[in-house]
Amino acid sequence: MYNKQITDSSFDELYSEEIQKISETHFSPVKEALLASAFLSEKTGAKILDIGSGAGKFCIIGSNNYDAHFTGVEQRETLVEESNKLKEHFQLTNVDFVNANILDIPFKEYTGFYFFNSFKENLHPEDRLDPETELSSTKYLSYTNYVKGQLSQMPNGTRIVTFYSDGNEIPETYKLQKTASEGKMKFWKKSK
Ligand SMILES: C[S@@+](CC[C@H](N)C(=O)[O-])C[C@H]1O[C@@H](n2cnc3c(N)ncnc32)[C@H](O)[C@@H]1O
Repeated sequence: MYNKQITDSSFDELYSEEIQKISETHFSPVKEALLASAFLSEKTGAKILDIGSGAGKFCIIGSNNYDAHFTGVEQRETLVEESNKLKEHFQLTNVDFVNANILDIPFKEYTGFYFFNSFKENLHPEDRLDPETELSSTKYLSYTNYVKGQLSQMPNGTRIVTFYSDGNEIPETYKLQKTASEGKMKFWKKSK
């Protein structure tokens, strides 16, 4: 386990040069990863899913600091490889990474979710991780509707933290509990 005060630049140095270049824009800062994982791991036996886990930064920081199990699902295989390198580096046993599309992941085994604007890369060129990604509003809608549908079937008390999201994936049954980072981070709980 490392000190919670680790800076983003020290953490990002653990990644390959290619990942270091995109980390500031596309991956969670240490501060926000800690805030989100504290809220999601409050429940005893918490199982947390990062929807679009990138190079694993949120899951690695969360699992290093909180007593909960973290799973990251990520569609890009190279990013899952980077995530597993850090899992090994810190010798973590409470985190797993799955190389899959979110459409293939049922939500029912989790108690909490983290969502950092993962589907916007289908709408805006500046949100793409690589220039090869084709813009597609059809994909954006299908991923967003899938997440919304899965969240709506979850029991009361289910938690989700969103970062830079406009909330399209949040069902009306989820109530906003608080915000952080000038409103960019939102903490939600299902209550009916
Ligand atoms: C903005 S990054 C966030 C990474 C990570 N959650 C973090 O906070 O450090 C979003 C990630 O979601 C992934 N992603 C986008 N759509 C996805 C989908 N349908 N299924 C799985 N992963 C997806 C992208 O490949 C990208 O790595």
